[in-house]
Amino acid sequence: MTDDQPGNTGPDEPAGSEDPGVLRRPVTDTDARRASRVWWDVDADNYQAEHGAFLGDLDFVWCPEGVREADARLLGKLAGRRILEVGCGAAAAARWLATQGAQAVAVDLSAGMLRHARQAADRTGVRVPLVQADALALPFGDAAFDTACTAFGAIPFVADSAAVMREVHRVLRPGGRWVFSVTHPMRWIFLDDPGEGGLRAVHSYFDRSPYVEQDATGTPTYVEQHRTLGDRIRELVDAGFRLTDLVEPEWPAGHEGVWGQWSPLRGRLFPGTAIFVAEKPAP
Ligand SMILES: C[S@@+](CC[C@H](N)C(=O)[O-])C[C@H]1O[C@@H](n2cnc3c(N)ncnc32)[C@H](O)[C@@H]1O
Repeated sequence: MTDDQPGNTGPDEPAGSEDPGVLRRPVTDTDARRASRVWWDVDADNYQAEHGAFLGDLDFVWCPEGVREADARLLGKLAGRRILEVGCGAAAAARWLATQGAQAVAVDLSAGMLRHARQAADRTGVRVPLVQADALALPFGDAAFDTACTAFGAIPFVADSAAVMREVHRVLRPGGRWVFSVTHPMRWIFLDDPGEGGLRAVHSYFDRSPYVEQDATGTPTYVEQHRTLGDRIRELVDAGFRLTDLVEPEWPAGHEGVWGQWSPLRGRLFPGTAIFVAEKPAP
């Protein structure tokens, strides 16, 4: 989960606004990868300072709506299962999975995020293997895991999210489960604003141009990718998965927290998160 998805610029900065540093425009894969590598290292301290308390050190929170794996049970059986967390950030979810008896492994591209994961392991005394790797090239053998998951990790930040689906499919055993949360695709039609300004549709849902922040030289510093619901389902199916559920968490009564563009105002009207639950069919 970033500060403000889509986009990272804060409530007053609508995506695609007059700010010349904030655009919807095509970027090359190389530029997207470079931006992600730098961004998540630079932003790691800020991200954890802002969201660490909400995410916890030993907890699995799927989204700003506060859905917890402890309640939702989207991953199925945990004890004894080999579970891969992709785009783990500080790896609170993987540590929580370990407390449930899972053999969890946590992967992230960012050394900065993994530094926070090590610090949280020291604080809690719960350790899981931490691996610095790209979700596009997971350093594991075929069928190495029973389950894979991510809460807003990796998928929104790679140009070729279909390749992530194929890579996760490869490392899962037949019958394995893949569950991931992303910003709900319909959010991309709105301004990046948790208030009234975020209720007005300004972008085409069908415009897949990424959200881009760039520096004065035009070099992208933050890139986030939009896919429609159909795109996401197609990528899963093409990789060989069977979609078994699509969870659209409702904003819970009494939850007054704001996370970037997620807010009670908007959450009561339309979904902010989509959680895809898929299985690699057993032969
Ligand atoms: C929004 S954060 C989510 C972190 C964590 N899952 C959470 O809920 O707080 C996105 C994470 O994805 C990671 N990430 C981005 N691109 C990646 C890639 N290609 N491969 C692996 N991790 C990636 C970032 O480094 C960052 O830690």
